[in-house]
Amino acid sequence: MKFLIINGPNLNLLGTREPEIYGRESLDEIMAAAADFAAENGIQFQWVQSHHEGVLIDAIQNASGQVDGLIINPAGYGHSSVAIRDALSAVGLPTVEVHLSNLAQREEFRHRTLTADVCVGQICGFGGHGYQLAIMALKKYIGG
Ligand code: DQA
Repeated sequence: MKFLIINGPNLNLLGTREPEIYGRESLDEIMAAAADFAAENGIQFQWVQSHHEGVLIDAIQNASGQVDGLIINPAGYGHSSVAIRDALSAVGLPTVEVHLSNLAQREEFRHRTLTADVCVGQICGFGGHGYQLAIMALKKYIGG
């Protein structure tokens, strides 16, 4: 089983960016732990991070036919990007949305994402561990 993990803007700064909200682990560390967990469960994944909406949309479109599912932390674009939502809908791959922070405990503008309802489900509030929860959830959803 193969997944693609897509990380949106500013997530390259994890570890130093508002650590009281997002924790002290870097994105590389979070992805390395997720890769170990995935390997233990017979899953491979590639991951990408970009600040650029078009790069994220290219990644979603190019994943079609290449992977069994997507995990996306759209970061700030989750609250604003109709285009990323449309790409997820168009491609139709089963997708789990991840946020490190608990959006419900944050500013009102973060309570809703435009992407959540085109995803199978959303995991938020568990820090970097949320990616491992998403891997397991997606695997179970796909039936592996
Ligand atoms: C985030 C939450 C978003 O509201 C924010 O814009 C981010 C990170 C998270 O993982 O908690 O950049 O997606």
